[in-house]
Amino acid sequence: MKKLLSTLVSVGVVTTSLMAANAAITAVKVDDSLSRVNFSSPVWAKAKFSDVTLYPQTTIKMNDKNANALNEGNKAKTAKVAAVHNGNDIAFMIKWADGTVNIQQGYKTDVYGDGFAVQFAEKFDEPNALPYIGMGSAERPVMVHLQKAAKGVYEPNGKGDVSYQVNRNQTDLFNKELAAFDAKVKQMGSNDYERTFVSEGFRSMTEIKDGSNRSYARLGRDGDNWAGTLSRPMKDGYVNLHAGAIPVAFAVWDGGKMGRNGLKLLSSWVSVKIEGEKGGDALIEALGTPAKGDAAAGKEAVAANGCNGCHQVEATDPANLMAPGLANIGGYATAGYLRESLVNPSAVVVPGYNRNAHSNYMWYMEENGKRTSTMTDYSWLDEATMNNIIAYLQTLKAEVE
Ligand code: HEC
Repeated sequence: MKKLLSTLVSVGVVTTSLMAANAAITAVKVDDSLSRVNFSSPVWAKAKFSDVTLYPQTTIKMNDKNANALNEGNKAKTAKVAAVHNGNDIAFMIKWADGTVNIQQGYKTDVYGDGFAVQFAEKFDEPNALPYIGMGSAERPVMVHLQKAAKGVYEPNGKGDVSYQVNRNQTDLFNKELAAFDAKVKQMGSNDYERTFVSEGFRSMTEIKDGSNRSYARLGRDGDNWAGTLSRPMKDGYVNLHAGAIPVAFAVWDGGKMGRNGLKLLSSWVSVKIEGEKGGDALIEALGTPAKGDAAAGKEAVAANGCNGCHQVEATDPANLMAPGLANIGGYATAGYLRESLVNPSAVVVPGYNRNAHSNYMWYMEENGKRTSTMTDYSWLDEATMNNIIAYLQTLKAEVE
């Protein structure tokens, strides 16, 4: 009986932490080749799907009235995520509901595509000091794989009309040669969108174009869902994913709501257990354990400490351009990150994507390339108040659709 009771108690504890944070995903070890998987590859039958919730990123408001109106009151979405690896390559699938298909058209700047991204941290040996979720940060780089639904149109003149670009009356090709030429143009046009970046903050995003990484990302329709897949080596010159657990983050864009750049749904860092590799417990615990504080007391402490003077804290509070919006911070920040933001605001400086629009309210100062946050340092707060504030910040997130 005693045994049964203690089992029940521990089950109860697990349930609370599942509610508060994303549980670890398991990357199942398989023998299949993973270099070119898509969502219908048979390997996914061996995978375990887990729920990952993605929240509207509300760090800044874009300078785009139409887009802002479309995204007012966005809810969170729970996606199904799975991972498999074979010791050399690792593959992910993220499946999320989106009833409308939006394809990016390169030549029309106001038509945006649905898409997804998978983000890896280059360094994750300190689970409470992971890179900034929104694109890495100084000295904490991330690697981002991005794929969008895009119509491949070969468009050297940007008009999106191949026959206009290729003046057939002026080619000296006929019959078979002309057919081969057309096929070639079509092939050039069907290049997909897939891009990979190394980033230490938004303004330092560098696209890898020299072929020094290998990856394969695909996007497919599965009923009313998009299913995005990414496969890549477990180790390349940028990241080494041979570890007991690795942090991975996911993002999705809705082109129908003019989603692009920071206008997206974003998960927190989620731990992915690599089946067959040892270690990783500290990471899994750091990402899966909610703060121990009292959220109601934390809300009072936030008001008493003037956080609202700079931040829009809850979605119903007035917008405040002096600092990042916190209305969904509990959805995409880890407890460790929230603590670090208070104790050492300059450890990770939110890049402030749209700095020109906030020129009177600098989010950071920059000297010799080093950024210092303009946020007050709260390292003097006592431990209980700190825990209460973190517990409250973790409750700040949109409801799930
Ligand atoms: C003087 C203005 C100011 C005050 C007061 C202030 N902050 Fe900030 N805060 C900022 C600025 C500016 C940033 C962005 C730069 C950075 O990353 O530090 C920021 C960043 C943050 C972040 C990271 C946000 C993200 O999107 O990653 C959190 C969390 C945060 N603050 C919480 C708080 C809390 C909680 C309080 C009150 C205890 C508070 N802040 C008080 C200005 C302020």
